[in-house]
Amino acid sequence: MSDLPPDLLARLRAARQVTALTGAGVSAESGVPTFRDAQTGLWAQYQPEDLATTSAFRRDPELVWNWYAWRRDLVRRAEPNPGHRALAQLEKALPGFTLITQNVDGLHQRAGSRTVIELHGSLERVKCFDCGAPAPAWPEAGPVPPRCGRCGGRLRPDVVWFGEALPPAALSAAWAAAQHCQVFLCIGTSGLVEPAASLPGEARRHGAALVEINPQPTPLSALADFVLRAPAGAALPKLTAFLAE
Ligand code: APR
Repeated sequence: MSDLPPDLLARLRAARQVTALTGAGVSAESGVPTFRDAQTGLWAQYQPEDLATTSAFRRDPELVWNWYAWRRDLVRRAEPNPGHRALAQLEKALPGFTLITQNVDGLHQRAGSRTVIELHGSLERVKCFDCGAPAPAWPEAGPVPPRCGRCGGRLRPDVVWFGEALPPAALSAAWAAAQHCQVFLCIGTSGLVEPAASLPGEARRHGAALVEINPQPTPLSALADFVLRAPAGAALPKLTAFLAE
């Protein structure tokens, strides 16, 4: 027996398309700090603008590279949690399931999710700051940041910095998935950072039931048809268990 709202279960069973949007909260139980929480110790003296903008990279590329190298190392040592694993199971259980994430930690893929729309890029990828070419690998020894094999420019993480546009293909896929679903799950996101924050409203305008999974209220709570005030790692396995019944 599930303690989830029966109406929500009925909407899930009837849905042809379910879309989920995740944020930093889904990785909290893996011990991955949010961007701001990560600014502790050595990094506490810096503002996000010092570490995650193109002007910061122009000013001090070594500092920015080292900050991301530190975060990459941190997420490599983290493990996917039951919330990530439940989302990977949902992908298998539901024929029409789309996962959109704002996270750059790769934990959804490590949990087994095969198709993930990464709105904010990935810590595991790097590209050239000058020519934009992706770099499949880079030397850990040598200049910091490492150099582009194609043009000799400096490599940067392939994440979306403040003030940068989101990858157009990812954004349009996310927009379509919001418009065409019957249930939209909003998991572990504060709903403050655009344009991802507009996806739940877009889904609702197109008739989807909006479900928020977050232990804390957010600006999205008022829009939600169902609110599960619980950590993702507790709520999501209940959803998958129900759908497997
Ligand atoms: N389960 C579900 N939600 C959780 C959990 C948990 N175990 N723990 C915390 N949360 C919720 C918090 O209550 C908060 O609402 O996760 C949310 C995290 O909010 P943010 O830190 O603002 O993360 P996010 O919404 O992903 O931020 C969006 O902002 O910092 C930039 O680019 C970065 O992708 C990030 C974007």
